Amino acid sequence: MCGIVAYIGQQQASPIIIKGLKRLEYRGYDSTGISLYDGTELHTIKTTGKVSDLEAKFQGHDPIQATIGIGHTRWATHGVPNDVNAHPQTSNSGDLVVVHNGIIENYASLKEELIQRGYTFSSDTDTEVLVNLIEDVQRKEKVKLGKAVQIALTQVVGAYAIVVFDNKKPNELVAARLGSPLAIGVGEGEFFVASDATPFIEYTKNVIYLEEEHLAIIRCDRDISIRKITSDKVIKPYIEELQMSLENIQKGGYDHFMLKEIFEQPQAIRDTLRGRLLSNEGVITLSSLREHENKFLKARRILIVACGTSWHAGLVAEYLLEKFTRIPVEVEYASEFRYRDPIIFSDDIIIAISQSGETADTLAAINIAKERGAFVFGVCNVVGSSISRLTDAGCYTHAGPEIGVASTKAFTTQITVLSLLALRLGMVKGTLSRSEYQQHLVELESIPDKVSEILKQERLIKEVASSFKDANNCIYLGRGYNFPVALEGALKLKEISYIHAEGYPAAEMKHGPIALIDEQMPVVVIATKKGHYDKVVSNISEIKSRKGRIIAIVSEGDVRVKELADYCIEIPESLECFTPILTTIPLQLLSYYIAVQRGCNVDQPRNLAKSVTVE
Ligand code: AGP
Ligand code: GLU
Repeated sequence: MCGIVAYIGQQQASPIIIKGLKRLEYRGYDSTGISLYDGTELHTIKTTGKVSDLEAKFQGHDPIQATIGIGHTRWATHGVPNDVNAHPQTSNSGDLVVVHNGIIENYASLKEELIQRGYTFSSDTDTEVLVNLIEDVQRKEKVKLGKAVQIALTQVVGAYAIVVFDNKKPNELVAARLGSPLAIGVGEGEFFVASDATPFIEYTKNVIYLEEEHLAIIRCDRDISIRKITSDKVIKPYIEELQMSLENIQKGGYDHFMLKEIFEQPQAIRDTLRGRLLSNEGVITLSSLREHENKFLKARRILIVACGTSWHAGLVAEYLLEKFTRIPVEVEYASEFRYRDPIIFSDDIIIAISQSGETADTLAAINIAKERGAFVFGVCNVVGSSISRLTDAGCYTHAGPEIGVASTKAFTTQITVLSLLALRLGMVKGTLSRSEYQQHLVELESIPDKVSEILKQERLIKEVASSFKDANNCIYLGRGYNFPVALEGALKLKEISYIHAEGYPAAEMKHGPIALIDEQMPVVVIATKKGHYDKVVSNISEIKSRKGRIIAIVSEGDVRVKELADYCIEIPESLECFTPILTTIPLQLLSYYIAVQRGCNVDQPRNLAKSVTVE
């Protein structure tokens, strides 16, 4: 996710764009830039860091008199954050500039073709490929910018929201989207284009939310022209009046960033699978793994180091990797690993998992592992973060910025990446049959839609939350793949509602914790059909007979648990190894609504930081 702001009209573009980019800072970013056309020359200024750093580049210079411009705050996916990789990206001729939000999956093949045709590239971004593709189409087809963008986008596979400017035709902007949002503010003789309406809300309340696969040609001397990218079909612009406040827009209409990020998970998982799970070709491709696959295949064992929610994802990965690759896996708290003088063999593989990529304990664990000769593979959500730069290789989650302190979409996308890794290695190693591999690929592709199905139960989960908001303690139980989810569910509840909660393997109850059970003790049990169902049902019976109050996460159509539990939340069936991505969703919503009903600060819980960059 990043920020796009563009302007065309009579006002000075620079202050509008800069202020607009600051409005989008909540979306997270690592670098920023702006292109301004002053009537004769196209000026492009870019920098790593904050919008204030971009502003500083203008200090001491005459302001650029421009009434048209495009600006960007980047959340890198291809190419580390630096001045060159920042947007706008410029075509070889210098005439075209583009700002882009999203991922061009087939950028590598398109880049190859363009290089064959004499194009050169200065950045490592997928976006620079797009801007040169548009230029190439213009040259070959001799068409106007709008048509060139349209033709180019029909060759692109991926997600994008883009704004394009051509200094050969300096009285128009072309905007288009597929999979990433774009809003067009319609003013009096002026237009604004942005990732959401926050950059232009004080200039106009009239907004066109560009729809999927739509392209807009924006000029001040005529009405906006909108068409479908793939069909040339002219679309009548639908202008609506903005009702939301600035803060409300930043949260996408949700009350909290955490809730927004819970609901972003279908898209976040799709973006993480994008370009990696090619189900119609029946393959998983992880570019960063390719040259290191043998190291994994020969590994004596895999050690996973992480903290908090990322550690829980590591526990799920232990089940995935041992099942599919038969390589022994050990999961370690990074904070413990770094101080216990760990035994590390040179043929060990370390996997470091971190959303922020800045967690001090995880960084320290990586350093120790590298000092002792191990190969370290990272799973991070922030391109160019310290951990991503320290590891020998890695695979990014493409969850987009996670702003809520309680990690949600990072967890499910981490498991998604680790599932891709385990399946790919199992298939290459031969410990997973080709038919099982195919079966898992097809099921993994269906997971985002299944998450969407679960999110439709928000209202039920909110009601269940109201019955437990005054609890002082809570126990979470799960077995197998869902034992780590029980731990994660307990952590979510603890960190945002301040209710003491513990996660246990369900069978552990009889080894002590069952002494805690009485009518005051809510028990959340993950009881899906896949994974020791009968055993879990008997665990539930034991709790029921001691008057425990039970919330059960069950498979659709479950009957037996419904007879025992006080509340049941149904989720779609899936292969056992993918159930953690599904069973965690109701637990995220449950903890969210309990916290909200307790009046807690959900996005910034007391005592917590989003990234623990100190010991
Ligand atoms: C989880 O909700 C917490 N925010 C916390 O446990 C977090 O997962 C942990 O600090 C690790 O952070 P990282 O993934 O950025 O390394
Ligand atoms: N994929 C593009 C890049 O890495 C755009 C990333 C974004 O959405 O900011 O530059």
